[in-house]
Amino acid sequence: MPDQPLNIADIRMDYRLAELDEETVGKDPILFFKRWFTEAESAQITEVNAMTLATADGNNIPHARIVLLKGLSGSGFTFFTNYDSDKGHEIIANPNVALCFFWKELERQVRIEGKIEKVSAAENDTYFHSRPVGSRLGAWASPQSREIPDRSILDLNYNTYENEFSGVEIPRPEHWGGYLVVPSRIEFWQGRSSRMHDRILLVKQADGSWLKSRLAP
Ligand SMILES: Cc1cc2nc3c(=O)[nH]c(=O)nc-3n(C[C@H](O)[C@H](O)[C@H](O)COP(=O)(O)O)c2cc1C
Repeated sequence: MPDQPLNIADIRMDYRLAELDEETVGKDPILFFKRWFTEAESAQITEVNAMTLATADGNNIPHARIVLLKGLSGSGFTFFTNYDSDKGHEIIANPNVALCFFWKELERQVRIEGKIEKVSAAENDTYFHSRPVGSRLGAWASPQSREIPDRSILDLNYNTYENEFSGVEIPRPEHWGGYLVVPSRIEFWQGRSSRMHDRILLVKQADGSWLKSRLAP
């Protein structure tokens, strides 16, 4: 029914699953993120590592897209992509980025802000070689973010690289690799009833500790 108006304004949900307080979050937001991530995995949320990555270009125009979290350490959050993509160029223009996770089944959001840096070539190689063959060929075949005349160029590129690397180890393209988002702010959001949600923010201090506060929903 294409002409039927959508009843979007009437869609609403009351969140009642859980609560979040300052004590539960603790002193280290990366540790607490691990806890929430594990709980999201246990809840069998699909694409649990999917996160929105926001970048800004040289004209301060924001751009957002989903990428997959592929590593988490005390230093930060890692994902992999094409360094020559639009996001790669935006990151050169402005290394300040934001990430956002939404685990709707747990009524939780995590917002992360920080600076981004490339991961080492060794780490890139290790991850690249752990990927399935098709994904490795895809990294060669797709000039990510560039305009292409039609779909067939991708298949053509894919077949070309499949032949070129037939019987040999597929090398990592120079333009493909990871980024580490080093967080300076992390906010944990737990949905509560009547839009009275819990928001706990941790901001990194010069001495490396995290300053905790509660924000109004
Ligand atoms: C679930 C999902 C996961 C994705 N994971 C990645 C990823 O890990 N790396 C990536 O470069 N693009 C990923 N993409 C594609 C990006 O959203 C985006 O289309 C692509 O990176 C090009 O973005 P850009 O033109 O802004 O650079 C994913 C998309 C979806 C929907």
